[in-house]
Amino acid sequence: MKEVELKISIQEYDNVNELSNDDQVLIERAKRNVETAYSPYSHFGVGAAVLLDNGEIIDGNNQENAAYPSGLCAERVAMFYANSKYPKAKPLTIAVTAKTKGHFVANPIPPCGSCRQVLLETESRFKSDLRIILVGENKIQVLKNVKSLLPLSFDGGFLKV
Ligand code: THU
Repeated sequence: MKEVELKISIQEYDNVNELSNDDQVLIERAKRNVETAYSPYSHFGVGAAVLLDNGEIIDGNNQENAAYPSGLCAERVAMFYANSKYPKAKPLTIAVTAKTKGHFVANPIPPCGSCRQVLLETESRFKSDLRIILVGENKIQVLKNVKSLLPLSFDGGFLKV
């Protein structure tokens, strides 16, 4: 038996001004997108924004449903729309934030497992790192790629015989 340790690295910022202008613009879009989330059941609004290599920013937010599992998270709404509208444009960065009880979250919210899997598909598809910016009011976390958030991941490589 041998024990294998996996290490991930996260950059943490306590002030948005420490990030680049492009990142700040994307964060503002994610914050704006929270306001149009449809979350009457959880009252937890999530906003996402995806920057593509063609310069476009694609918006998304969570869309809930009375049949709970039929709803979709903000990250997947944004990424699926990005890939459907601009299938050839490489997504470079996704920013995500959330609001509840009238306040943006103090600490960043990490994407759920299904969203990580979907983001990983995009990273594999374009063979290029997809940065993730998780935004809280007190802290911003930046991951250099999706693989860092989903180690030991399943991807299309395993389907090849
Ligand atoms: N949600 C997201 O949109 N993204 C996440 O990363 C976590 C959770 C949504 C799903 C649901 O509408 C609400 O937040 C509560 O789980």
